[in-house]
Amino acid sequence: RRAVGAVDLTALGLGAIIGTGIFVIIGEAITTSGPSIVLAFLLAGVTCAFSALAFAELASSIPVSGSAYTYSYATLGELAAWIIGWDLILEYGVAIAGVSVGWGQYFNELLDSLFSLSLPESITNPPGEGGTVNIPAAFLVLVVAGVLMIGVRETARTNTVMVFIKLVVLLLFLVLGVTAFTADNFDPFFVEGEGLGGTVTAASLIFFAYIGFDAVSTSGEEVNRPARDLPRAIIGSLAIATALYIAVALVATGALPFEELNGAEAPLATVLSDGAGIGWGADIISFGALVAITSVVLTLLYGQSRILFAMSRDGLLPRFVAQVNPRTRTPVLIIGILGLVFAALAAVVPLSEIVELVNIGTLFAFFVVNIGVI
Ligand code: ALA
Repeated sequence: RRAVGAVDLTALGLGAIIGTGIFVIIGEAITTSGPSIVLAFLLAGVTCAFSALAFAELASSIPVSGSAYTYSYATLGELAAWIIGWDLILEYGVAIAGVSVGWGQYFNELLDSLFSLSLPESITNPPGEGGTVNIPAAFLVLVVAGVLMIGVRETARTNTVMVFIKLVVLLLFLVLGVTAFTADNFDPFFVEGEGLGGTVTAASLIFFAYIGFDAVSTSGEEVNRPARDLPRAIIGSLAIATALYIAVALVATGALPFEELNGAEAPLATVLSDGAGIGWGADIISFGALVAITSVVLTLLYGQSRILFAMSRDGLLPRFVAQVNPRTRTPVLIIGILGLVFAALAAVVPLSEIVELVNIGTLFAFFVVNIGVI
């Protein structure tokens, strides 16, 4: 059903972009970059801008659902499309599972901080990390799959509300965090022994924070005016995220010495609690992280279901899986299968290494799309 407009679509992009990257990965990437993490955000953002332009050009001329899969089909043929289709399934699937694990961690932290409740380790961690099964992570994936089955309009509305909340929470972070800003924290700017190379390494991890603008282009057939709205939303959502990320990185690094940010599990909350001494602000940030990550899962699962939809319609997957439910007009079978598979993955997969795997898969897809434009 064509029910999505330009604003919803930009929200879809921001929904997929702003999540684990800025709320969690910033604390890992800073290890090699130090305060020059600000440059790493800039570098990763500029790199993505070129791919965003390629996606925008293809989205306006091929306004069909399926994103990189559809574009490589149109420009490079069936074999390239088939490879990219499966590459995207891995990319989105692994990302959804990993991002949900991050959500589970924040969920536990907030339960603990607000109600002094802690769930047993065995049901909140995957095997290998002290648990048996990660119930909160699997639960999130199933709930999100349920929302997606209800309908595209409901999905877009739920997402728009969540995007609004996460933008407000990040703006609040900027306002509260800047009160503790001191330029001393930027000296030295690079990590000793790492130099600019460390900044580039950090940028390759931070790349994860920008993944998602491509999810906008998975929805081509549900957009009111695809040729106009898709490019605007792709470039617009990336531009907003880049500006916000650089501001957040500046404030975070200025408010807390980088050694204390390094490796923090909830870095932005730590900036407010330890750097600015505002405990309630830290709780709001944790809540914002939950909302943000939920919307990333929602938009990635949405995008993934549309890619499979396009693949099965083209005969690269059994055709019956693309059936659209006559009442909700969504591909319920695809969403159901994906929900179950990714929930199972989220229940047993550890977060470590996932980010790098997802980055590799995504860069490959971007590379093929750029070749297609050439
Ligand atoms: N860009 C998304 C995130 O940071 C994947 O969560």
